[in-house]
Amino acid sequence: MSDILKGKVVIVTGAASGIGRAIAIGAAQHGAAAVIVSDITETSNEGGTTTTSEIEALGVAVRFHRTDVSKRSEVDALIESASEFGGVDVMVCNAGITLRSDGADVGEDDFHRLMSVNLDGVLFGAQAAARQMQARGRPGSIVLMASMGGIAGAGMTVAYSTSKGGVVLMAKALADALGPQGIRINAVAPGTIDTHLLRTNPAIAAASEGFRKRTPLRRLGKPSEIADAVAWLGSDMSSYVTGIALLVDGGLLSVI
Ligand SMILES: NC(=O)c1ccc[n+]([C@@H]2O[C@H](COP(=O)([O-])OP(=O)(O)OC[C@H]3O[C@@H](n4cnc5c(N)ncnc54)[C@H](O)[C@@H]3O)[C@@H](O)[C@H]2O)c1
Repeated sequence: MSDILKGKVVIVTGAASGIGRAIAIGAAQHGAAAVIVSDITETSNEGGTTTTSEIEALGVAVRFHRTDVSKRSEVDALIESASEFGGVDVMVCNAGITLRSDGADVGEDDFHRLMSVNLDGVLFGAQAAARQMQARGRPGSIVLMASMGGIAGAGMTVAYSTSKGGVVLMAKALADALGPQGIRINAVAPGTIDTHLLRTNPAIAAASEGFRKRTPLRRLGKPSEIADAVAWLGSDMSSYVTGIALLVDGGLLSVI
């Protein structure tokens, strides 16, 4: 497809399914030297072949690493596993969850469970990747998965919006902290993307048709369209870009 990630070692969390799967396969198609596919399960929600076998078929070095991103020790081990390929160049902290019931009365346990994946998990990944980049003296690019729900709020996703708003600011704060060492950190904020998450969460699935109608491009996004944005942010093509939240939403948040 392109060689913008030529020679780079890429790690993607939540990469068995959906957007993460597209990012991992996209990295291989964009020339990555090696891709580490990480998730709590290797089975794709979409069924069919695993992400790992798709990348193998492209002739790119690939490993699967089982990681629950909410557990710091597992995330540290994930980053360490990249040493086999000389260390991580592009870290994509993509894993995220939604809640079945996430309105104004969201429960305390659910709220903390969501934060442990969507915020702790993203922070652990960024920290461990940055530490490895610093230790070996080769800065890289870290991409955090936010959401349009982290830029505009929705009453049906109170905890989710809170977590994704946190991811947007985490990217900005870490960009300031790590920029002097050449490490770039950006967030990607997808709009309504057609994945298992979208189809299986009743509140989000019900709202998605309304979102589609208000979207200037009048369609849902494809996971591969998020993957292309992530590949650009991971590549040297975006070498002067850090601290942004790149909206990839078909224009939805740009109109009233
Ligand atoms: N689909 C959308 O419309 C949309 C929009 C905006 C943002 N996002 C974000 O994009 C990311 C991916 O979403 P998706 O739509 O592909 O969802 P998905 O449910 O299809 O895939 C999420 C993947 O994350 C994995 N995962 C869940 N908990 C994990 C954990 N604790 N540790 C490691 N992996 C874990 C799942 O096993 C799954 O493979 C999420 O952060 C989500 O919030 C999605």
